[in-house]
Amino acid sequence: MSDEETETTETADDQESASYDHLIEDHRRLSQSFIWRRHRAFYDEQGVGAWTSGTIPWFVTSNASVARAYAQVIDAFLRDIADGAFGPMAPDAVIHVVEVGAGHGRLSYMLLERLASLAQAGESQRFRYVMTDFAQSNIDFWRAHPRLKGYFDAGLLDVARFDAEVDTSLELQISGEILSEGTTGPLVVVANYVLDSLRMDVFCVQEHALYESRPAVYSTQPEPDLDAPGLLDRTAFVYERVPASETPYEDVEFDAIVSRYAEMLDDTAFTFPVGALRCLRALDALSGGRTLLLSADKGYLHEAELGERAEPQLVTHGDAFSFSVNYHAIALWFLQRRGIVLATTPRDGALTINAFASGVMRPSVPRTVRAFGEFVEHFGPMDFAAIQYDIRSDSSMSVHALLALLRLGDYDAWLFYRAVDALVARLERPSVIVRAELRRLLPLVWRNHFHLGADHDLAFEIARAYSAIEAYEEALRFYALSIDTCGDSAITRHNMALNLYWSDRLSEALKCVEASIALDGSYEPPQVLRPKILDRLEGA
Ligand SMILES: C[S@@+](CC[C@H](N)C(=O)[O-])C[C@H]1O[C@@H](n2cnc3c(N)ncnc32)[C@H](O)[C@@H]1O
Repeated sequence: MSDEETETTETADDQESASYDHLIEDHRRLSQSFIWRRHRAFYDEQGVGAWTSGTIPWFVTSNASVARAYAQVIDAFLRDIADGAFGPMAPDAVIHVVEVGAGHGRLSYMLLERLASLAQAGESQRFRYVMTDFAQSNIDFWRAHPRLKGYFDAGLLDVARFDAEVDTSLELQISGEILSEGTTGPLVVVANYVLDSLRMDVFCVQEHALYESRPAVYSTQPEPDLDAPGLLDRTAFVYERVPASETPYEDVEFDAIVSRYAEMLDDTAFTFPVGALRCLRALDALSGGRTLLLSADKGYLHEAELGERAEPQLVTHGDAFSFSVNYHAIALWFLQRRGIVLATTPRDGALTINAFASGVMRPSVPRTVRAFGEFVEHFGPMDFAAIQYDIRSDSSMSVHALLALLRLGDYDAWLFYRAVDALVARLERPSVIVRAELRRLLPLVWRNHFHLGADHDLAFEIARAYSAIEAYEEALRFYALSIDTCGDSAITRHNMALNLYWSDRLSEALKCVEASIALDGSYEPPQVLRPKILDRLEGA
């Protein structure tokens, strides 16, 4: 997965010119390589730092547009359940929505907000959201996050440490309940940008014969320590193809999928998502075979996308990496479980979003099918992801187009953050309508904000927008919030002084401008403003 925030500067030419002379691991199944150890250690060590440092991209799978679409599909599913999709259900039964690899928690928060507000209509089955990850530091971060406190207190949110490749039950850390096999009831699973991070193997079909493609790992230098940070960036795979056994996994479900590929494909390679399928099997066992999976990732689902593929190489982000997800195999697995596949038509971008359900046919979940069509397939988050960057970088956009973009993105805070310079530049003489729209929209943007660290000071940017429409009280409130959340600065104090000056609160303006000068004597704007304030105070 990539978005523009983390674009690499390395070119294909750079990669080709490196020489991978040093064998560091001999051929073996990809799922058994040492590389997974380093990848897992990275997430464990970094915690939320994986995102605040900008190492791991997140926006495309964790924005407000995704949250809106998922909330609509999940709410529809909860209504279908209440209507008897899986037979009679006690009205007070709670359906768990389990997010796997929730990471930073931004999607969880925005999705929970929307689900909670849709649930107020009272027509759907009750739910509880469960954020999970295998990194305890992420869980500790969520537990301390002020945005989530109300949901924990209301019992709408819980957390669990869940290693998707190993665990078969979930121990909820707030309520103490354990979700285990057969006791859990129907389940919704959200898995964004995580199935591509779980163990997989590689096969290929050549002249109608099936081979296992086993990578050997080479590096550009000797590697005495295979756990050394940064090592994966220096590696490349060289594959050998060995005839595959008819039962490579000695697992009826998995082997059936692999042998189906041997029949239907030729002259192509494919990955087998063994880690993702083990995870889904464990979760499906909890729900007694009544699971809805919603998943966004780079990957492919349609048969036509399986042709002419090469064996994959690593795509690294720091010491983590990802491969494209073979959603086609995941679809086959759900079909084995008498389930359904809600697929989006392939777009040309990296992102695909699909839904799968076990234990139901389409007629029993009509609302879910309709919501998926309306909110995901027909102009949904995939299309939003495809166009938002191009639109944002169009410097000729009018203020009306920028506001429309923010509405299109469901008032996403990061989208606003990236668009705010262009927006403020076009607010020289805003019309009454533009002012009113900004007053409506800015609180919604703030509501979507899930603070990860002091690097991106959204409160400051919102304050600038309020200031540009002469909403000085609100601007001052957000500058104060900026100081609370991201620390004091001469610039913030000077901006506050200006807003106070424009509101004729001259003594307070003087205090602020002096605070600005005290914070940074070399910053010029407050030196210019101070005499103006003093003049007005003397004339008053
Ligand atoms: C690329 S991040 C995705 C975060 C978020 N879902 C998103 O869309 O931005 C992958 C997340 O999966 C977690 N993860 C990786 N392997 C895992 C495993 N085996 N079990 C559970 N979580 C895992 C990592 O800790 C990390 O939080």
